[in-house]
Amino acid sequence: MRLQTHVLGMDFQNPVLLAAGTCGFGMELEDVLDLEALGGFVTKSVTLEPRRGNPAPRVAEFPAGMLNSIGLANPGLAAARSEKLPWIARNVRNARVFVSIAGHTVDEYLRLVEGLDGVDGFVGFEVNLSCPNDARRGGAPFALDPDAVSDVLSGCRARTQRPLVAKLAPNDPNLAGTVRRAEAAGADALTLVNTLPGLLLHPSTGSPELGAGAGGMSGPGLRPAGLRAVREARTATALPIFGVGGVLAAPDAVAYARAGADLVQMGTATFAAARAAPALIRGLERWGRRHGVTSWRDELVRAHTLEATRGTTS
Ligand SMILES: Cc1cc2nc3c(=O)[nH]c(=O)nc-3n(C[C@H](O)[C@H](O)[C@H](O)COP(=O)(O)O)c2cc1C
Repeated sequence: MRLQTHVLGMDFQNPVLLAAGTCGFGMELEDVLDLEALGGFVTKSVTLEPRRGNPAPRVAEFPAGMLNSIGLANPGLAAARSEKLPWIARNVRNARVFVSIAGHTVDEYLRLVEGLDGVDGFVGFEVNLSCPNDARRGGAPFALDPDAVSDVLSGCRARTQRPLVAKLAPNDPNLAGTVRRAEAAGADALTLVNTLPGLLLHPSTGSPELGAGAGGMSGPGLRPAGLRAVREARTATALPIFGVGGVLAAPDAVAYARAGADLVQMGTATFAAARAAPALIRGLERWGRRHGVTSWRDELVRAHTLEATRGTTS
């Protein structure tokens, strides 16, 4: 199967990216896998100031995936500018890199865009509006408040020409409405989904398994929520969609394409097998041979996108 695709005005050598927060800033994986073989990756979410994150333990497993409450531990804007992105600019040519940004207030997002826009090493911003572990001051994640989604994205739009990818939440009761607001505010693409809020309790003590209490659920158990979200978004917009949540192997990526995604991202699977993403790329090639599908873009993505968006205006 031909895996090359064209999204956001750019060529991707294949549709497999590593998801935000699961591959650091790339350099952490340098000795583990060939970053240049990937479609791309999304950096850890960058915040204005460095963050140490939440108390340990920050991850716990359960049979259908894992729960994390990292709390957006990251080196902050200044280190992203001076160390992380320059390394990416020197070392990554073929993979497309998106910088994830996260803030507590609208203004923090805008200052992040202003602070990063002039730096090389990345092709676009993924705007993390949906982290369940790091809510907006005094409320739910931005993604669950369409006015806040609109404020963040329109402010970012006014400050950069680079593609803006809005990362939304799986537990949005009106996802189609939020998607329309994101598009109207200037989003160029969507990433669906972030983790789903969850809680694990020790069977013996009844106390939370994570130091922070609750966390965000990811892995195979999240896949149905991700597929539903992608399908619902696809009926509301023709924008490109990055499908994420429980992608382990080729049939999962194909399911996301059939639901309406243009590309996929993979996170939790890489904790169990560090080279899960290159294995997925090879698996997609095999899947195409076995099923007589010769092009990811033409036979999987386009066919389903056209079908789902027939009748929408965008
Ligand atoms: C340990 C961990 C850290 C994460 N950190 C971030 C982050 O910084 N920013 C973000 O937008 N999403 C973050 N995510 C969410 C992932 O990018 C992805 O949306 C989610 O894990 C679902 O995909 P998966 O089932 O393939 O892991 C994190 C997920 C995990 C497991």
